[in-house]
Amino acid sequence: MNILLLGSGGREHAFAWKMVQSPLCSKLYIAPGNAGTLQHGENVNIGINDFAAIENFVLQNQIALVVVGPEDPLVNGIYDYFQSKPELQKIPVIGPSLQGALLEGSKAFAKQFMIKHHVPTAAYREFEAENLEDGLAYIDTQTPPIVLKADGLAAGKGVLICATHEEAKNELREMIANAKFGQASARVVIEQFLKGIEFSVFVLTDGTSYKILPTAKDYKRIGEGDTGLNTGGMGCISPVPFASEAMMKLVEDKVIIPTVNGLKADGIVYKGFIYIGLMNVDGEPYVIEYNCRMGDPETEIVLPRIKNDLVELLIAVGNENIASQTVLTDERAAATVIVASGGYPEDYEKGKVITGLDTPNANRDTIVFHAGTKVADGKVVTNGGRVLAVSSFGASVTEAVAKSNAAIEQIHFEGKYYRRDIGYEFK
Ligand code: AMP
Ligand code: GLY
Repeated sequence: MNILLLGSGGREHAFAWKMVQSPLCSKLYIAPGNAGTLQHGENVNIGINDFAAIENFVLQNQIALVVVGPEDPLVNGIYDYFQSKPELQKIPVIGPSLQGALLEGSKAFAKQFMIKHHVPTAAYREFEAENLEDGLAYIDTQTPPIVLKADGLAAGKGVLICATHEEAKNELREMIANAKFGQASARVVIEQFLKGIEFSVFVLTDGTSYKILPTAKDYKRIGEGDTGLNTGGMGCISPVPFASEAMMKLVEDKVIIPTVNGLKADGIVYKGFIYIGLMNVDGEPYVIEYNCRMGDPETEIVLPRIKNDLVELLIAVGNENIASQTVLTDERAAATVIVASGGYPEDYEKGKVITGLDTPNANRDTIVFHAGTKVADGKVVTNGGRVLAVSSFGASVTEAVAKSNAAIEQIHFEGKYYRRDIGYEFK
């Protein structure tokens, strides 16, 4: 079958790499893709939110499966768009309906959903312009640190952890009255601060059944030792050493089952990935956030650890028979380390020529995924803040990280930066 994959990051390179290994995939198109996805299929110059152009392309190229990488098209309703067109209806779109995507697209919606379905999460209240004064008064009743979340999508920047009441009140005013994050912060969730250690669980659901994919822990800060600004993620490891069988049983019973059943009970169509961000608070899992897609860079280690034919799993999701599948996981540990442009997550330059890309691939335990790259004048050049995700297998996460770090030393571009300490707590 012909498959269309939407997106252009490291996550999409990993999806492309994995899907073309399937005998079921005859031709893969990636819109818009990057210099890495070119190795596995044909990049097409279509915007991920240009549904009319996607529709034309799908019909002209006999696309039989659409896989959506990032959240944007999902929150903009690509699933529903396909459902609304008779000639597109039968083509499975991997990703939830607009309602389902609100688990990521609206923090308030996600909190209401969790409360309704008894999914453990931090206590919260929501405020907007009409009750801003109540919000300011509510802050005074809370013990800092106080967590403020813009309701809508804010490019990963919409969560503020405030150390004092004063700071929290100023930020609440900035968000609601001064549109700090535009329309996304017209409504704000204020929630209890949870103290613990974070990890992520990924679920693939067809709306009735589900499969749990390998766990991951990401490292979001730019600096070693988890210091400095937040980023989209500077690396991650899988499996998560403290996500024991007992912990995963709690996650399944208290979080995954109520989430999948809750979606179904509420009549929300969801055929895709659920990324569940969790906090382990003294051995109990609490949901910090839902995302309606796979993580980036988590995908770059989760997919290599899955031994199944991914296309077969995705077709089963479309056919609502994921229950018939068994997910087989590579026992080895895996890690990915992000190679970023100097200056990221603030200003950085693009267009730097990358050399040494093929050397690490000679090692069968290492895969170089492209994130922000493109081809210019026949050369691969940097085209984003996160440039590459270098994934490796190892007997332990420490060994996997060491292999990725060694591989990165063979790759060069001006301003290259990476964290050498991914997985440091587990050494
Ligand atoms: P989010 O965008 O929802 O993933 O939040 C960004 C980060 O803020 C999370 O990865 C956590 O590190 C932190 N965070 C979010 N909510 C809480 C909370 N209730 N308690 C403590 N930390 C939080
Ligand atoms: N790595 C975090 C995310 O994909 O949201």
